[in-house]
Amino acid sequence: MQKPRLPQARGPLTAELLGALRSSTDDFSTALAAAPAATGDDAALALWVLHELHYLGFADVSDDLEWHPGLLGVRRLLEQDLEVRLRERFTAPEGLSFVDDVFAWIDEHDGPSLARHVHREADREQVLDLIRARSVYHLKESDPVAWVVPRLGVAAKAALMELQYDEYGNGDPNRLHHHLFATGLEACGLDPSYDAHLDVVPLEALEQNNTLSLFGLHRRLRGAALGHLAAFEATSSLPSRRMAEGLRRLDFPTELIAYYDEHVEADAVHEQLAVRTIARALLAEEPELEHDLWFGAFSCLDLENRFARTMLARWGVAEQAA
Ligand SMILES: [Fe+2]
Ligand SMILES: [Fe+2]
Repeated sequence: MQKPRLPQARGPLTAELLGALRSSTDDFSTALAAAPAATGDDAALALWVLHELHYLGFADVSDDLEWHPGLLGVRRLLEQDLEVRLRERFTAPEGLSFVDDVFAWIDEHDGPSLARHVHREADREQVLDLIRARSVYHLKESDPVAWVVPRLGVAAKAALMELQYDEYGNGDPNRLHHHLFATGLEACGLDPSYDAHLDVVPLEALEQNNTLSLFGLHRRLRGAALGHLAAFEATSSLPSRRMAEGLRRLDFPTELIAYYDEHVEADAVHEQLAVRTIARALLAEEPELEHDLWFGAFSCLDLENRFARTMLARWGVAEQAA
């Protein structure tokens, strides 16, 4: 197993934090003092790095630092800022039932579609740029959701594990979804390690991943994590079909196409599981979490819309409807 290496700094906080992580210091007070002023890429990258300490960690950072109180203090400030910004963008729908109405609500909230662009118009360079930016997510895929499992009641836990078992390859490492994506990257001649493209991914991709980790790592946000999961699965099957067809049009390797083919059918099943079984079971036991199911679902769509706009803008492409 290859651990990632620390990325390049994107501002004063990451310059301080990454420098401190690389040295064997035990003092993160300067990073803590810099955290409240950090914004944009600098804050997002710092939070991504701090979350990563709870996944594989870094080849150039001691594992002893995972639970260092000074780093947890920095992480807490950055997470509070992220959660406030996410909640400010969200308005809870009135008079709707998550289980009965979320699919129709998602249809109304979809934004510009990168998959549609890849399907018909994107060139090779744009697709490579997209899969590098997506790699930060796809090379981890279901890992942030795995944190939620021990925090659920019996029925929701069993249903989430049914979905996760599929994501993790049904016992076959070659079918494990994030491994399928790594194989696809390699076949394209791209580095499959999940830090390889970190320095070129936009802020919006970091925020997507930070949000997943925020929702996954905090028990109080389990409703948001499962709402995010539901919206993610519900907006994956058709876009995966478009991605696969676009990749075929551009003669991309079959290994990468296989990743998207896998998600056409898998996510048509997963969206039903995520809403009709997992969310239903969660609400049967904890009905007060419905607000956060909506919050998580909204955040998923909103973050993807912001990511899509950024990618289309950097390719000079006009926005299209989903
Ligand atoms: Fe998957
Ligand atoms: Fe899925």
